[in-house]
Formats: sequence, structure tokens, C-alpha cells
Amino acid sequence: MKKSAASAPTDADALPPEILEFIEQCKAAPHPESFLIAVLQRIQEHFTCLRGEHLDAVSQLMQIPSARVTGVATFYHFFSFVPKGRHRISLCLGTACYVKGAGKLLEKLEELLKIKVGETTDDGQFSIETSRCFGACALAPVMVIGERVYGNVQPDDLPGILKEYHDLAPQTAKPA
Ligand code: FES
Repeated sequence: MKKSAASAPTDADALPPEILEFIEQCKAAPHPESFLIAVLQRIQEHFTCLRGEHLDAVSQLMQIPSARVTGVATFYHFFSFVPKGRHRISLCLGTACYVKGAGKLLEKLEELLKIKVGETTDDGQFSIETSRCFGACALAPVMVIGERVYGNVQPDDLPGILKEYHDLAPQTAKPA
């Protein structure tokens, strides 16, 4: 296969077979561009973040201008160009949650994991993000890890919750 010299991998080289297959399915649909977000989501789920070569590949394979692909990837906050942890913790800082102590919860979480919002633990297990209302204000303060929602969370609950995610707790809850 011929490639241009000294260029980063592009097209199919940058993506795993299952995503290439999904892109082919999208291209066969009436409006392939309408699947752009879905394609980018799958790539992020696989790699935990998006990279430039991924966007190039999507642009080439779906024949969508690179400016459009980059525009979508940078517009939506749920897309990230920084690698995320295996367990993504999202803490709500909306008004109801903040009033119920989400600020203290965040402080405790950062202390336990030794990272700040937007960062990932060195072992790649956890990352912390914040959100502006999950629509579950009655459960405030609310925290989401992966697909699981935790309501009425108090700072003292955090070590126990983190322990549910096995390999994390021993490394993060102990002092260095
Ligand atoms: S403000 Fe946190 S769930 Fe609504």
C-alpha cells in the first residue's frame, strides 16, 4: 500500500476494524454526515479520547470536510482530546447539587484520587469531569460513574463508592 512519506497515519490505519465497519454502514445510509457524531462517539469510546489522526481518518473515509469534522469534535463538550480514565466520574455542579454540597464532594474526590477536574489518574483508572445538571436534582448531590448514577452522595461515601471500582481504591485512597 502506498503512503505519503513522513505523514501521520490516516484513513483506515488509524481506526479499528469494528469502527471501519460502522463507518461503511453509515456511508451506505442516505445521509452519512448525520452519523458523524455517532462515529466520533464510537472512536472516543474505543480510545478514550479523539486524536488528530482519528479526525483525519473520519474526514477521508466519510468524505466530510475536515473543518466540519473538527468543528463537531470541538463543539460538543463530551468529546475530549485528552485521554480519559477507564472509569469516568462526572460530578454535577448544577445549582441544586452545589447547594447540597457538591463543592465539598469535588474537593474530597480530588483529594482521594490526587487529580483535578479534567485530569486522569496516573494508572489510567479514573478521570474527573463536571456537569451542569443531570436532570436528577431530587437526588442532589449527584455523581455519575460510567453509566451508574449515585444520588445524595456525601464526602464520606466516596471511599466506599470508589472501592467498588476495585483496582482504584488501594492506589488512590492511601497516602503516598
Ligand atoms: S443540579 Fe445536579 S442533577 Fe440537577
